[in-house]
Amino acid sequence: MKNKLLIVILISCLFGHDGIAQAQNNSFTLGKKEFLLNGKPFIIRAAELHYPRIPKQYWEQRIQLCKAMGMNTVCIYLFWNIHEQKPDQYDFTGQNDVAEFVRLIQKNGMYCIVRPGPYVCAEWDMGGLPWWLLKKKDIHLRELSDSYFMERTKKFLDVAGKQLAPLQIQNGGNILMVQVENEYAAFGSDSAYMKTMRDNVRKAFDKVQLFRCDWGSNFNNYKLDDVAVSLNFGAGADIDKEFKVFQEVNPTAPLMCSEYWTGWYDRWGKPHETRSVDSFIGSLKDMMDRKISFSLYMAHGGTSFGQWGGANDAPFSPMTTSYDYNAPIGEQGNTTEKFFAIRNLLKNYLQEDEKLGEIPAAIPVIEIPTFELKESASLFANLPLAKKSENIQSMENFDQGWGRILYRTKLVASTTKQKMVIADLHDWATVFINGKAIGRLDRRKGENTIEIPALPKNSQLDILVEALGRVNYGNTILDRKGITEKVEVTNGSTTKDLKNWEVYNFPVDYAFQKNVKYQTGAINGPGWHKGTFNLTKVGDAFLDVSTWGIGMVWVNGHNLGRFWKIGPQQTLYVPGAWLLQGKNEIIILDVDKPISTKVTGLAKPILDKINIDGSLLNRKVGQKLDLSLETPVQSGTFTNDNGWKNVDFQKVSTGRYFCLEVLNSQKADDALTTLSELELIGADGKKIPVAKWKIVYADSEEVTSGNYTAEKVFDKQESTFWQTQSVGAKPVHPHQIIIDLGEVEAIKGLRYLHRFDNKPEGMIKDYKVFLKSVPFKL
Ligand code: GLA
Ligand code: CA
Repeated sequence: MKNKLLIVILISCLFGHDGIAQAQNNSFTLGKKEFLLNGKPFIIRAAELHYPRIPKQYWEQRIQLCKAMGMNTVCIYLFWNIHEQKPDQYDFTGQNDVAEFVRLIQKNGMYCIVRPGPYVCAEWDMGGLPWWLLKKKDIHLRELSDSYFMERTKKFLDVAGKQLAPLQIQNGGNILMVQVENEYAAFGSDSAYMKTMRDNVRKAFDKVQLFRCDWGSNFNNYKLDDVAVSLNFGAGADIDKEFKVFQEVNPTAPLMCSEYWTGWYDRWGKPHETRSVDSFIGSLKDMMDRKISFSLYMAHGGTSFGQWGGANDAPFSPMTTSYDYNAPIGEQGNTTEKFFAIRNLLKNYLQEDEKLGEIPAAIPVIEIPTFELKESASLFANLPLAKKSENIQSMENFDQGWGRILYRTKLVASTTKQKMVIADLHDWATVFINGKAIGRLDRRKGENTIEIPALPKNSQLDILVEALGRVNYGNTILDRKGITEKVEVTNGSTTKDLKNWEVYNFPVDYAFQKNVKYQTGAINGPGWHKGTFNLTKVGDAFLDVSTWGIGMVWVNGHNLGRFWKIGPQQTLYVPGAWLLQGKNEIIILDVDKPISTKVTGLAKPILDKINIDGSLLNRKVGQKLDLSLETPVQSGTFTNDNGWKNVDFQKVSTGRYFCLEVLNSQKADDALTTLSELELIGADGKKIPVAKWKIVYADSEEVTSGNYTAEKVFDKQESTFWQTQSVGAKPVHPHQIIIDLGEVEAIKGLRYLHRFDNKPEGMIKDYKVFLKSVPFKL
């Protein structure tokens, strides 16, 4: 009897809720082709969540949803730039209390994988690096040679380790593994840099298994001992193909897909991205059948509140505020068809002692009736104190991290029109002369030049620059905001570099927005709008901001994020946890201007309403490809079936501009062309790398019902495809795409995947291939 009691007490000490052992001597190690948890084979089924993208009050609900979807682990990034917003001032409290997040995961019977960066990508401002690093003029990000960068990253890792090392599994916590850096092979190949990063992570996390993540195509770009290797890929991937090279090099390593992309991120001005359940679920099952561990990126994306969204480049394309990601758990914490598909699949693959979690209660959604913002404050009537600077400089040099910045100077008289050129504009500007807006410039479209009219004496130039997300991926992550170099005015014969600026900084903090002088009535031009709305009961809502231009919204002091009328996102998510019964305050800063100052709270988001403009398409107005005088290097007929098709060319051909012309579809009367992936095989029999490829032309692209632009043929994602216009008047064959390969290549053949979901529409039959060393005439 006594013994039995002792055992019960012992068991309840050793185990937390739901069977995670809290013993000091737990282990997680690499076995032969498998992971070992306390010496026994263990398959990780992880769900990626980002704590800053979820209001703290909802953390547990999201974790429980992951468990209910069939997961046994939650994977997290650390976001350095939210924790150290000013050098050496660390914040791990409240919404930033990541240790609390990890403990909540453990409380709910789940393990945790930590990816502390310090660079994390994640569609997050500067990939998680703090903006203040950019105050160092010659900074080299993610490079060993930059001792300042290396010292700051090490410091952050040490501080992060103090928070989380006690939660390593060997210490009785739930952290199984910790990642070193993030997809470094896509950025560089310096093994010494990664070695130092690994050693720094090891100092911060002394016991846990370390790992790194890269792609099946590039993981070998650098070498790193003593860490596990995992690979990232997306919905619909061919599992054999993804792990093939890796397994040849590492025949006994456990296999893990550290990011299995459930959907994709949205960017302003680009069509909404989705990945179908069909394309997604098959490869997941395949991984389970082969006992391959995985992490769903994202299980639930959430929201990039405030200024935290990042950007892609080049071309520059900033992220929307919603990070819904078309993930199985929607932005509001709602279940979706994908959620249930995953839950239904994974319940068949539970391991010993595991059980499927209950689906937690849904968070209520309310519909807020239309209200109006009746007070306003003009930006020009509320200028902060000016700073003076002889040369124009970036925002960071004025100690400003995010927001908008106004540059003012005088222009000399001119009787003729002139051109003004800005180098470099980051990211969106309105140019005013003597208080009148004369035009807009948008970095997404590569705009940097504006015509200015004849000028009277002593004219005043104002350039109001809105900073969007900092680049988070690739070799252009060094992305200072505002105007980074110079502004020149030229009349054709003389060019003048403008000097002696007055600079006004408009930061993003709530106090600043609150303290401008509001008045009842409308304004014309950039400025703030304030209003209130009353609630009898609180709940989550989506604010329809589609009548507003571009800017940010604060509700009860919380920055909900950016809006931009170009879409595709037209609503902003407001967590009920931030709303109050009774009176709520809303402030909208619009640096363009609203058509109406009304707002309505909807029960469902609008994430897919894009205002199309020509810049989305790879075919410019008036362009038409004429191939009548060209000779194809190859022509033929593809087979009428699914899967990858291989074509060997009759002879090796060389050229830089590759054109595929599609003459007809397999199905008669099918005007569409669709194409998921295209690979070109070099004379050496190897795949030609796509890093330098650029689409120069596509005769037609569907961008209304979804994102089917021609770039999708070499984005290495099987589930995405180029599709000619399918909504409205369908253009007829022939259809063509031209790719600039970046340099002259010798090509021996091609491989091509129609589309993953095996739908027959648009399957190519007869084709021609053209290859030239000079651009095609358009
Ligand atoms: C990569 C990165 C992630 C994220 C995804 C795309 O895999 O590692 O941080 O950026 O791409 O969503
Ligand atoms: Ca694709």
